[in-house]
Amino acid sequence: MSFPNLRLRRLRKTGKIRELLEEIRLSPKDLICPVFVQEGLKSKSAGQSMPGMERLPLKDVVDEVNAIADLKIPAVMVFGIPSHKDDQGTSAFAQDGIVQKAISEIRKNLGNEIAIMADVCLCQYTSSGHCGLVKGNKIDNDSSLDTLAKVAISQAQAGADLVSPSAMMDGQVKAIRQGLDDAGFTDIAIMSHSAKHRSSLYSPFKDMAHSAPQFGDRKSYQLPYTNPKEAMREVETDISEGVDIVMIKPALAYLDLISMTRERFNVPISAYSVSGEYALVKAAAMQGWIDENEVTLEILTAIKRAGADMIVTYFSKNAAKILNEK
Ligand code: PBG
Ligand code: ZN
Repeated sequence: MSFPNLRLRRLRKTGKIRELLEEIRLSPKDLICPVFVQEGLKSKSAGQSMPGMERLPLKDVVDEVNAIADLKIPAVMVFGIPSHKDDQGTSAFAQDGIVQKAISEIRKNLGNEIAIMADVCLCQYTSSGHCGLVKGNKIDNDSSLDTLAKVAISQAQAGADLVSPSAMMDGQVKAIRQGLDDAGFTDIAIMSHSAKHRSSLYSPFKDMAHSAPQFGDRKSYQLPYTNPKEAMREVETDISEGVDIVMIKPALAYLDLISMTRERFNVPISAYSVSGEYALVKAAAMQGWIDENEVTLEILTAIKRAGADMIVTYFSKNAAKILNEK
C-alpha cells in the first residue's frame, strides 16, 4: 500500500487545526495539588529546594486550598509536619494532629468544593524517620499496619474523602480497607502508592517535610527501579486488596511503568511527579536555561499520554493557571 498524496503536515497548518487534532488534552481536572501544613508554625516557611512551595501554618490552609479550588483543581493532598515525633508515630493518628485539624478546617470551609486526600505514612511522625515502626534495627511490617490503619481512620474522621498510603508496607491496603470498613467508613477511597520506588528524586521532599530517615535507607520497603515486573506485582497485589486507585511514583523517569499498568489493569492510575522532578525544572528555569511553563506542560502531558488518569504534582497551581488562561 502506498499513499502518494498523503501529507501529515496538512493537519499541522494552523493553530486552530492543531487544537482540533489534539489527542491528549491536559486539564486542571487532571491535577492533585500537595499542601504542606506544619504544626506550631507562625507564618509560611519555604523549603531549601522546592522554590514556590511552602509549609503552611494551620491558619493559612483554608486560604491556600481556596486558591487551589479557584484554579479548578479538583483535589488536594495534605501532608503534615508535626512538632512532636516519637517511636510509635502517635501524632500521625492523634485526633488533634496537624493533618486532622487541617482536614477538618478545609471540610468546614469548603464543603465538597474540593476533594480532600491525605497522605498515610509515618516518616514525618516517627523519631526514626522511617515509614514503618522500628523493632530492633528493622522496619517491622506487621506492627506498622495497625498504626497505618489508625492514621487512615483518624483522617476519615476528620473529613478526608480519600486516604493515600505511601509507606510501602506489605498488606497496607488490606489493613486500611479493613480498618476503615470496621469503623464505618466504607465510602472512603484508597489511593495507594502501589509502585513507589526508592528514588533520589525524593530529596527535596524530605527536607520540606522533615522526614529523612535517621538511620539506613528505605531500600527494604520501597521498590528498586531495576524491577518492572516486581512493580507490576505490587500493583496487582494492591488491586487484590481492594485499592481504588493505584499510583506509580516517581512519574517522569517511570513512564514505561505507567503505560505498562495502563495496558494490564482496568484501574484508575495516578502518577506522582515528585519533588525532585519539580526541582530539576525549577532550577533550570531559574537559570534561564529552559522555559518553565512550556516544560511543565510538556512533562505533565507526557505523564497523561503514558496512561495516568491523574497527576499529583507541585506544578499543579502554575499548570492550572496556564491552562485556564489558554
Ligand atoms: C513519605 C513520602 C515521601 C514522598 C511522599 N511521601 C518521601 C519518601 O518516601 O522518602 C516523596 C514525595 C516527593 O518527593 O515529592 N512516605
Ligand atoms: Zn513515609
